[in-house]
Amino acid sequence: MSAKRMTTSGKPRDPLRFVKPAVRALSAYTLAPRRVSVKIDQNENPFELPDALKRKIVDRALARPWARYPEFDPRELIEALARHSGWRADGILAGNGSNEMIEALLLATVSPGTRVVIPQPTFTVYALLVRVLGGAPVTAGLGPDLEYDMDALRVARRESGAPLLILCTPNNPTGGWIAPERIADLCAEEDGLVVVDEAYHEFSGVSAVPLLSRHPNLVVLRTFSKAMAMAGLRLGYLLASPDLVREVNKARLPYNVNFFTQTAAIAALAEPETLAEGVRRLVALRESLSESLGALPGLRVYPSRANFLLLELIEKDPKIVFDSLARRGVLVRDVTSYPRLSRCLRASVGSASENETLVAALREILA
Ligand SMILES: Cc1ncc(COP(=O)(O)O)c(C=O)c1O
Repeated sequence: MSAKRMTTSGKPRDPLRFVKPAVRALSAYTLAPRRVSVKIDQNENPFELPDALKRKIVDRALARPWARYPEFDPRELIEALARHSGWRADGILAGNGSNEMIEALLLATVSPGTRVVIPQPTFTVYALLVRVLGGAPVTAGLGPDLEYDMDALRVARRESGAPLLILCTPNNPTGGWIAPERIADLCAEEDGLVVVDEAYHEFSGVSAVPLLSRHPNLVVLRTFSKAMAMAGLRLGYLLASPDLVREVNKARLPYNVNFFTQTAAIAALAEPETLAEGVRRLVALRESLSESLGALPGLRVYPSRANFLLLELIEKDPKIVFDSLARRGVLVRDVTSYPRLSRCLRASVGSASENETLVAALREILA
């Protein structure tokens, strides 16, 4: 070992000194694995795709050589996404989960010092990636009932001069939403990019996609991980003006969507009624779960247009409730570290029997 690689005391020098200070200062996005019978902590879909559809996908995958790379340009997938979303194929980019599309977009737009308005609380990955890139998240608070606050968004944008605003609607983890008309206002008021993460849009019945043709500064992100029941296959997509997509595409890794995932998505998109039925089922389950939980003492249930509910513990310590639920085999998400949510837990909408288990467990714990 050369002398340069050693400290004066003869120890190897710390390789972490080469990591950016902004990265060293961050906490990683992590999730502790737990074995439970009711897993409602990740807003996954409790219902699998039909077996017949899965078999069709596997048969198609078996008919294709696995030793060969996927298409360089996944044309068939992009065209299926264009038909599904109603937006032009040259304005769509597909990725390994929508997280990867958030990353590609931020890689293309955030330089050291770039300001990005991010409402709080929201999905934590946005601020994490902005910080990794040396950018500066600018906070815009939500309203008194955790609803979107248009004035706060406008002030944060105007005062910071931020070229980017990221909105998650319906918002993870609050369940609140922002109407497409308000998104149109935000796009028209300033020329900065307005990024709308629609990971849960299917459960809300509204989308910003119809605004794309009028607003070249709008970017929409979507995922197959929630309503589409394919979180394990990793597919997300970005919709924007073709000019913007061409630029973001430069920050995307080659072959980022594997052929199995492409095959699965194309097959699933060919069965829109299966998907629509799954969404209707989950929305009905959300409404009845919200009603049952709302009737429990000491619990506030926030209105949600997503496939999860934000639960505020009025009296009990949410961490104790979290542990008591886990002991009963129910894993929810502890969101107490999020700004303004120190009394909150988040529960995904599960199957009817999972929801009954959650309600019964909470009834016991809150009694
Ligand atoms: C708001 C939001 N955006 C993006 C994602 C990530 O989705 P994907 O699985 O497509 O990477 C999630 C996952 O929970 C999310 O809640």
